[in-house]
Amino acid sequence: MNPLNHVAIIMDGNGRWGLKYKKSRNAGHKEGLKTVEKIIKQTIKHKIKFLTLYAFSTENWRRPKKEINYLFNLLENFLINRIDELHKQNIKLKIIGVKNFSSKLNKLLNLSERKTDKNRLLQINLALNYGSKYELVNAFKKLQKNKNKITEKNLTKYLQTKNIPDPDLLIRTGNTHRLSNFLLWQLAYAEIFFEKKLWPEFNEKDYNKIIKKFKNIKRNFGKI
Ligand code: IPE
Ligand code: IPE
Ligand code: MG
Repeated sequence: MNPLNHVAIIMDGNGRWGLKYKKSRNAGHKEGLKTVEKIIKQTIKHKIKFLTLYAFSTENWRRPKKEINYLFNLLENFLINRIDELHKQNIKLKIIGVKNFSSKLNKLLNLSERKTDKNRLLQINLALNYGSKYELVNAFKKLQKNKNKITEKNLTKYLQTKNIPDPDLLIRTGNTHRLSNFLLWQLAYAEIFFEKKLWPEFNEKDYNKIIKKFKNIKRNFGKI
């Protein structure tokens, strides 16, 4: 049975769910947050140590302002209402991506990270304004600036995921088969599961099923 230390998820399909059932994409984002809560609980039950959630990509700025504002409001309210509870549950929150939001949201994010920094049960990495290509170019720039030798180990030190083991398992919901600029380096050896269901309809059972399948895969890492 494969050990499972880190799950990464591309939470896709909110907009389509919202349009289908509530006639608004934003309603889908709101509903998607319920799935986030369910999956966090289930991740803890499985004793998984790292959960990385793709919430907003560097490309998502191309969406209408109204939708972007809605998403960040949702995040702000989520943190205001839930961070104490997450802290009590011994969950650490880390943001990966560039924090260039409103000063109110930036402060809230920094505060949430600081508050939960010592927690050890589960680390949630929230990918916000995250783009893998930007992250890699930035890491190479730092190598160059510090005159470091270009090695895998040195590069990894300048990624936003430094000190985080690579994901073992990637799940993308929403019936779309692409990576959308997510963790291109870190996913080099992840097992990838594409799920037909839209994120708001993805549930604990679906998650358990994937984990069970993952545990029985023969992971070769180049060997036979
Ligand atoms: C959620 O799904 C991902 C976010 C960017 C928040 P989408 O909003 O991409 O939903 P679809 O793919 O349009 O249905
Ligand atoms: C990827 O989903 C980003 C997040 C889930 C945050 P998108 O729905 O934005 O991806 P594309 O643009 O369809 O590839
Ligand atoms: Mg999408």
